[in-house]
Amino acid sequence: MPTVSISGTDKVFHVSENSILYNALADQGLDLPHGCLAGSCGACRMDVVKGSENLAPASAIEKNTLEAIASELTSSEGAEKVSQMNLRLSCRAKVLGDVEIKPLGRLNF
Ligand code: FES
Repeated sequence: MPTVSISGTDKVFHVSENSILYNALADQGLDLPHGCLAGSCGACRMDVVKGSENLAPASAIEKNTLEAIASELTSSEGAEKVSQMNLRLSCRAKVLGDVEIKPLGRLNF
């Protein structure tokens, strides 16, 4: 069973393989930052700190939203910092193996 760790915390969640990351953590009581839950608003953006290869490839809608987020972040954070990130959307990312994530929205814990 894959694990999802929250970077900078001691929180580790065991999730079912092929589950959507946001849903799997919500089922266990962690409400990650989110909005539409449909892949278009970008509120659930996260940096996959470790194990980005353990998420299924992004769909077309996720890729489009991620491109917009990367462009926005490049303006505010700089291109070098953004190039070091593995941006994904927690409401779209399907978990295949262990990952460590850093949600880029505000967490309430
Ligand atoms: S919650 Fe809107 S893109 Fe994930």
